[in-house]
Amino acid sequence: MNIFDAGLLHGADYNYEQWLDRPDILDLDLAYMKEAGINVLSVGVFSWSLLESAEGVYHFDWLDECFERLHGNGQRIILATPSGSKPAWLSEKYPEVCRMNADGQRQRHGGRHNHCRTSAKYREACARINTKLAERYGTHPALILWHVSNEYNGMPCYCPQCLSAFRNWLKKRYMSLDALNAAWYTSFWSHRFTSWEQIFPDDASIHGMMLDWQRFTSDATIDFFLAESAPLRRITPDIPITTNFHLPDIGLDCHKFARHVDIVSWDNYPEWHRYGDDAEVAVKAAFFHDLQRSYKNQPFLMMESSPGATSWQGVSKKKKAGMHLLSSIQAVAHGSGSAQYFQWRQSRGGAEKFHDAVITHIGDNKTRIFRDVVEMGVALQKLGGIAAIDNEADPDGGEARAAVVYDFENGWALNNAQLPRSVEKNYQQECIAHYSAFWRAGVPCDVISPEYADFARYQLVVFPMLYMLTEETAEKIRRYVRQRKSAVATYLTGIVNGNDLCYLGGTPGGLTDVFGIAVEETDSIADYENLEFTLDGQTWRASHYADRIRLLGADAPGVFCGPQSDPQTGLPAITTHRYGEGSAYYICARTEAAFLDRFYRRLCEKHGLSPCVLWDIPAGVSVQKRGGAVFVMNFNSRETRISLGEDACRDLLNGKTVCGTLALPPYGAAILKK
Ligand code: GLA
Ligand code: ZN
Repeated sequence: MNIFDAGLLHGADYNYEQWLDRPDILDLDLAYMKEAGINVLSVGVFSWSLLESAEGVYHFDWLDECFERLHGNGQRIILATPSGSKPAWLSEKYPEVCRMNADGQRQRHGGRHNHCRTSAKYREACARINTKLAERYGTHPALILWHVSNEYNGMPCYCPQCLSAFRNWLKKRYMSLDALNAAWYTSFWSHRFTSWEQIFPDDASIHGMMLDWQRFTSDATIDFFLAESAPLRRITPDIPITTNFHLPDIGLDCHKFARHVDIVSWDNYPEWHRYGDDAEVAVKAAFFHDLQRSYKNQPFLMMESSPGATSWQGVSKKKKAGMHLLSSIQAVAHGSGSAQYFQWRQSRGGAEKFHDAVITHIGDNKTRIFRDVVEMGVALQKLGGIAAIDNEADPDGGEARAAVVYDFENGWALNNAQLPRSVEKNYQQECIAHYSAFWRAGVPCDVISPEYADFARYQLVVFPMLYMLTEETAEKIRRYVRQRKSAVATYLTGIVNGNDLCYLGGTPGGLTDVFGIAVEETDSIADYENLEFTLDGQTWRASHYADRIRLLGADAPGVFCGPQSDPQTGLPAITTHRYGEGSAYYICARTEAAFLDRFYRRLCEKHGLSPCVLWDIPAGVSVQKRGGAVFVMNFNSRETRISLGEDACRDLLNGKTVCGTLALPPYGAAILKK
């Protein structure tokens, strides 16, 4: 089933079960949904205790009614499995479904997203309820997608079942304790294990073990998802499956996870207006959208977003005029096939009663939020089919030929590492910093896995802080550069292998000949220091980390230039090296945005990566291409004028023709087509 066959989706989580005692409200909902152009609803996300009030005692009448009413009203349905929150009777009857902390205490029942993922009892209970749901609703004409569970996470459980599953996972990986001891370097601090039962994954000083524990937890979550999905796959083979990811880092390797879902979906909650500069927030959101698209090189769903403010962000601002449309359009520009909200109607009680929803407590359709949602519904209709088109299938699309590598496992390994500078390692932020140079330039960019991505699709791949570089990835990079391609690596790249063991013989491990350099040491730059380097006659700031490198054939167009007394001064800061038919670039320090803009602009020119438009893109404006249309988005709080040159276009949002200059209001957007 192609869930985009009827165009873009506009939807929300619909917690029907919270309003069963208010038929008047349920009636109003249907009318308001039509008015807002809502065409899909996610139902059942947290309704287990209502669906199954005691073991084997089911109540589907209310859900039947919900299906019929939505279907009759013209909406389609995404049906969630309820495992994100377990019913109290289940925890009471089978305490093993609750997670255990490292001191052996069972968590009390409550909250959500906290079941033990290896518990056989929990798996059985999920399989039972999911089977019932699939049998009952699997052939319902309104059903288009399974939403399995909700926001899985990689929080640990130390119960005996999980520990034993972990030890089995290790036996498979290492075969023998000798191999495990070698991989974990247990000769350090006398940590050698002489039986599998001695292994308890709560010792931050054994990095190899902690990394494997995180890998195991992620794998166990994927395994749980597969078990949970099995009845759905069996009974409804034609209904696609998703699970909604949320913000990294959630302890899951989502690159790996995404291989098992049919459609990627995620929950997007940018902190608009929180820090003054919304362009910073926008680039972060763009990065995460591009990550979702890149998981499978496919359109994804924005399963949740807030139509107003959230209630969990510390300070969450209401959206200023234009921002709702802009934020939702941004998702579509980067590959989303939907704009969906948490949630349709604001809850009266419970932990999130002050989280905005399409219909707020005042209860009617006259609010600013409702009007914003109506506006978005109209916009999605106007965009029609364009956004469901896969860029790859679209010759005039914005297919990316540049990519930034973002690796979850690397993030875990870096978190564990005690470096000479451990404050502000900021791995994710640094990936976003490199990505943002492409974003500002309007050059399409993917966000990819070092392990699963096919580098050959790209002309330029950036590896920011890829501290943990497996031998396989090193080999992949070597092959990639050899074929006339370009790679950029930075300080702290290729320091440890896949077992978190340091490379000997200079870094980047296994690639010193490709980059034509060997890093001897990495100095920490303290915040008061003003280390600088020059490149092409301009001076730039270096911070946080600076490598002392040995040139092994590379050129050093960039050189550290001061202060005089700094041991880095006079040493290479930026290097380039020909390898095979390609080029390998190395950036020896953390640098500033203006430098990255300059550096990548040059590389893009050199390698023929053109921006998706010919015009100058003003600061704070993002330009993305999708389905042959150019999305122009102004994240500035002031009107911004963009000179389009000769191009005359039609703005799909308002139907007007634009010639010469496009004036976008604060937080305004246009979708231009020639
Ligand atoms: C998450 C959850 C929802 C809700 C929203 C609130 O994304 O999936 O159930 O808690 O956050 O922002
Ligand atoms: Zn457990």
